[in-house]
Amino acid sequence: MNLYDRIPNNVNLSEDKKLQRALEKWLPNYLEWWREMGPEGFQDKDVWLRTAVDVGSEGWAHFDYVKMPDYRWGIFLEPAQPDYKVGFGDNLGRPGYQEVPGEFRNALRRIIVTQGDTEPASVEQQRQLGKTCPSLYDLRNLFQVNVEEGRHLWAMVYLLHRYFGRDGRDEADELLERRSGNPDKPRILEAFNQPCDDWLNFFAFTMFTDRDGKYQLSALAESGFEPLARTCQFMLTEEAHHMFVGDTGLGRVVRRTAQLTKQGDVRELSGIPLDVIQKYINFWFSYSLDLFGGEISSNSADFFAAGLKGRYKEREQYTEHTAANQTFTLTIVEDGQLKPREVPLRNALNEMLRGEYVKDCEKGLARWNKVLADEGVSERLFLPHARFHRHVGEYAGHTFDIEGNLISREEFERRRTEWLPTMEDREYVRSLMYPVFEPGKIANWIAPPAAGIKGKPFEFEYVRL
Ligand SMILES: [Fe+2]
Ligand SMILES: [Fe+2]
Repeated sequence: MNLYDRIPNNVNLSEDKKLQRALEKWLPNYLEWWREMGPEGFQDKDVWLRTAVDVGSEGWAHFDYVKMPDYRWGIFLEPAQPDYKVGFGDNLGRPGYQEVPGEFRNALRRIIVTQGDTEPASVEQQRQLGKTCPSLYDLRNLFQVNVEEGRHLWAMVYLLHRYFGRDGRDEADELLERRSGNPDKPRILEAFNQPCDDWLNFFAFTMFTDRDGKYQLSALAESGFEPLARTCQFMLTEEAHHMFVGDTGLGRVVRRTAQLTKQGDVRELSGIPLDVIQKYINFWFSYSLDLFGGEISSNSADFFAAGLKGRYKEREQYTEHTAANQTFTLTIVEDGQLKPREVPLRNALNEMLRGEYVKDCEKGLARWNKVLADEGVSERLFLPHARFHRHVGEYAGHTFDIEGNLISREEFERRRTEWLPTMEDREYVRSLMYPVFEPGKIANWIAPPAAGIKGKPFEFEYVRL
């Protein structure tokens, strides 16, 4: 463990001078990006953050006050397993790849770049949120998520530098050049170009969009390309907290809304009405579904065949790991109608991963609906149908209602304001956002958390302002 190196790492960086120099050259550019695009206005404040210092299941993180630019972004891979084997596909049972298999070099680089691009993108999307934090607890969680997304960028940049030579280094540079929402040099995926400028967006984003990350990383965490697997395994450890922030954050908004509902008109009481929360769910859930890619995908088949990207919990959930000669039935649009189509299972792996994701999201909805039930409110929240409001795959280019029925574009446009946040909804939510910087205090539109972080109370001074 080289924790006190300039770049903390557990990959013996100091023994590979060329790589170390390349990464040390990238470091100041990264810091410049962080100063320019990281959280605005809090860079010189002490924030009570966890820093990854090891990868063991116990004691992997250290909690203390740190100024964000001094955060020790490092490179941490889970330890290598002796005798690691390709766990699925046509090379099942062969030794894990220690270098990039030649014929998949471009595709694998694309996967790593696409994953890597999401990490700084989300920091950019969230950079103004600190100014309207509902509490110091939430402010700290925002910054925790931000610094860890920065570390995830490091994780991907390490892979690019170490395994892809010159074009890997070029790609690593470009990861610092694209900007979320910039029309000339946008981030790669659309969900990461959407504004995330209020806290309801932030919670929905960390609930739904970070959760896509969990599924992508899980599929890669069993990759036959061992360094990628080990990197993703450790990223998942950190990612769990991001989804916790989104899931419990939305749950706390729902709780507060339910409480206000019982007191009178939620708008008059400056809360967020349930129908507005529902529209934010519809927006972020549908954009996040797009991140899984097309329902029918030859790329997913090639990647599976090569042993690079598996199914969710491939080793644990399945006994048969070739997925060959099997089929999957999808619903597609043909001649203006929904019809079933049977495709080879390997071509439907994006859709299978998306299905796992939807199941996971449903659990979140059940938790929020339990909050509503506990508070004695009869309305319920739900997930829109997976065909609703899609921009990628089989359903893009068609229009569906919230229940997944095919409808005309005119009807969709007429009813759009029922389902998706309007300008007025967004402005209303923004109008509620004001900063609460006093320890132990909280904004009116959200309930306090059930507990603080790492045994600290909610009243703890999580950020010293
Ligand atoms: Fe991440
Ligand atoms: Fe994340």
